[in-house]
Amino acid sequence: MTRIPQDIIDRVLDTADIVEVVARDVDLKQRGTNYFGLCPFHSEKTASFSVAPAKQIYHCFGCGNGGNVFSFLMEYQKITFPEAVKLLADRYNIPIQFEEGSGSSELFSGLYDLHEKATQLYQHNLFQDTGRKALDYFRERGLTEDTIKQFKLGFATDSWDQLVQLISGIGVSQGQVAKSGLFIQSEKGTFDRFRSRIMFPVFHPSGKVIAFGGRIFGAEDPAKYLNSPETPLYKKSDVFYGLQASRDSIRQAGHAVLVEGYMDFLQLYQAGIHSVLATSGTAFTSRHARALNRITRKVILLFDGDEAGGSAAIRGGWVLLKNGLEPVIVRPPKNKDPDDWIRESGVSEVKKAIEAPVSFIDFHLDFFQGPALEGAERKQYILDILREIRGIQDGIVHNDLIRILAQRLKVDESDLIRTMKTQRAVRSYPDEAPDPDKHQPIFFTTREEKAQIELLRLLAHEDITIRKYVTKAVSDINFTHPLLKQLSGHLINAKLKVDTAAIIEYFSDKSERDSISKILFEVNQDIPPEQIVTDCLRILKSKPLKERIQTLRAEIREKETKGQDPEVELNEVIKLQQELNEL
Ligand code: UTP
Ligand code: MN
Repeated sequence: MTRIPQDIIDRVLDTADIVEVVARDVDLKQRGTNYFGLCPFHSEKTASFSVAPAKQIYHCFGCGNGGNVFSFLMEYQKITFPEAVKLLADRYNIPIQFEEGSGSSELFSGLYDLHEKATQLYQHNLFQDTGRKALDYFRERGLTEDTIKQFKLGFATDSWDQLVQLISGIGVSQGQVAKSGLFIQSEKGTFDRFRSRIMFPVFHPSGKVIAFGGRIFGAEDPAKYLNSPETPLYKKSDVFYGLQASRDSIRQAGHAVLVEGYMDFLQLYQAGIHSVLATSGTAFTSRHARALNRITRKVILLFDGDEAGGSAAIRGGWVLLKNGLEPVIVRPPKNKDPDDWIRESGVSEVKKAIEAPVSFIDFHLDFFQGPALEGAERKQYILDILREIRGIQDGIVHNDLIRILAQRLKVDESDLIRTMKTQRAVRSYPDEAPDPDKHQPIFFTTREEKAQIELLRLLAHEDITIRKYVTKAVSDINFTHPLLKQLSGHLINAKLKVDTAAIIEYFSDKSERDSISKILFEVNQDIPPEQIVTDCLRILKSKPLKERIQTLRAEIREKETKGQDPEVELNEVIKLQQELNEL
């Protein structure tokens, strides 16, 4: 058996997204902060299977199944734990080094190696005679030699096999060739994928090349850019072009300027706007947003100044808002892209515009001319916008957007809120009994256990001040069930953030995992935490007092039958009764 190192398991758990993993097999709909769908583990007609992205766990209110990304795949695909880790590591581009030699890490290092060789070849070509026209093209477009070198721009010649020749005889496996995305394979043989194109290497943030974009020049081709396909190294939906160079500047600036094209990126970067990023051969996705979330919260969308660029900015803006980021908009002049703009008008004009972006909602209203719409169009516009707002989790953002909309569209805020709410699907409850053949979670039935569970939920609260308060309050509480005791230990030890999905990994038994997921799934939103703590502590602290009183009563009766004086016991009972009343 191969063992997967813990740091890889942690990385996979950090990277994989529960909604995305589950959504491959279950049709999920968002309702509030969570997602619901038909449970894949028991048969049902209304959705009681629920996924919490904030906690990275799932739980079925019908059959009690629950867990994190690993347990979902293990149970749904009937695979082992190492297989689940491997599957996700592969999907999320995380190289696995097994403790004993294995094919997977060789594949990754082989693929990195191939990309490195290709990069060097293309760079070399650019400065040869064959590359003269390509180099001229870069120069004409205003790129300096420094920029060309820093971003390792290159040129793929019109040869069908220049790269094939370079790597033949140096021990590259067929599998590596097939998975690299750098070749095309047919019955006639293996050929270079990129020919007669200027080459833009796409880098991993670590600085390794993981893919290429190749642009045709001086000729007509329906595909202006040809990009690497998805490979084990390259998953388009979370890769940014340029991040390896701009990450620190983005952190410093407190925002990222997002552009659409490779050339837009290079022009802005070269002009000294270093907090810039581009997507790479694809639209902006939620995964892009989540990747950015670790670096900055504010994204300035600087897309092309045409209709398509405007629509893409609006789509991107909603994606950002739904993922908790703040989009603002800067537009180049009509039908120009950022590359044209900076070359024609100069960097200071672009910088000035970046410093004074338009809010997303104002841009939306202007782009669709919302305030001028009438009749059915106006109604549809409002409904469409409310549907998007409904998908945003942050209540403050919600309210701000609604307020601005109400002002600009001259409608009542309360009307907008009501319309939005009636669009919302009603929450449904399981309509079936759990399947008795399936695994049953551990049940906690006593009042005391239920109180302990409420406290544990607060210990997992996202708000650290609440967690600190509850940690202190429960310091002299004895969690009775071993499972609850263990969970309390993990929660109290959690540092800044409770990593729910990681805590589940401590419980290897399925019934324990189900039970832990159920406990951690929801926090009671309706009752203030202080109230819950007071009520629960009353229940938990009164139990030993009541037991002691009962024992004393028995002793008193015994003494009375023997004709002895039970004064000491009576006094203690009175004292305990008082303590009980004060709880
Ligand atoms: P654009 O069509 O706006 O091109 O595509 P551009 O960036 O302005 O390119 P230049 O200035 O003509 O060289 C924007 C981005 O969309 C992707 C590329 O990543 C490109 O940079 N794209 C575009 C493709 O992947 N394939 C295409 O055929 C076209
Ligand atoms: Mn362009």
